[in-house]
Amino acid sequence: MAQQRSDIDIIDELVTDHREALELLGRITSSTDADERRELADTVISEVVRHSVTEEMYVYPAMREHLPDGEQAVKHDTEEHQQLEEVMKQLEGVPASEPRFDALVQEMTDKLRHHAHDEETEQFPRLREWAPREELIKLREKVDSAKKLTPTRPHPWAPHSELFHKVVGPGVGLVDRLRDKLANRPDSR
Ligand SMILES: [Fe+2]
Ligand SMILES: [Fe+2]
Repeated sequence: MAQQRSDIDIIDELVTDHREALELLGRITSSTDADERRELADTVISEVVRHSVTEEMYVYPAMREHLPDGEQAVKHDTEEHQQLEEVMKQLEGVPASEPRFDALVQEMTDKLRHHAHDEETEQFPRLREWAPREELIKLREKVDSAKKLTPTRPHPWAPHSELFHKVVGPGVGLVDRLRDKLANRPDSR
């Protein structure tokens, strides 16, 4: 039987984000069209910034509250987010026709794989063990309502969407502009 939406917790949602972002990065690598590569890169950058902000806003407080070494786990993940962001800030401004673009896509893929592996084998299973299930489902509901302010999946922040152009737009500063917008959504606190 298919999983009911009401059974899905925030961790399922975040693991899906990891898979989708890695798939987008794979599509960049296999595409030879510079415009398409740029657009996929902007999409994956946007999705990963959204993913990081979601974790920081909804998962970190739960880790701090429920994990015995929550503060340490948050610190570790924050560092990984910062490293990913450094790569994305370089990638946002490099033309897709340059060799450096491919090198950065590869670097982002490696960092994201590492991030996904750490969370999926360490923090997330431990959070499931220590945090009440209802709370993890409630958090997923909160993320759902936050997303209602944006078009639904797939890829609400895709460069083709009207919202993307209206709210952030591509190019240098994309990561900062997006982080700003997402962290200051009216429903975010
Ligand atoms: Fe994370
Ligand atoms: Fe993550």
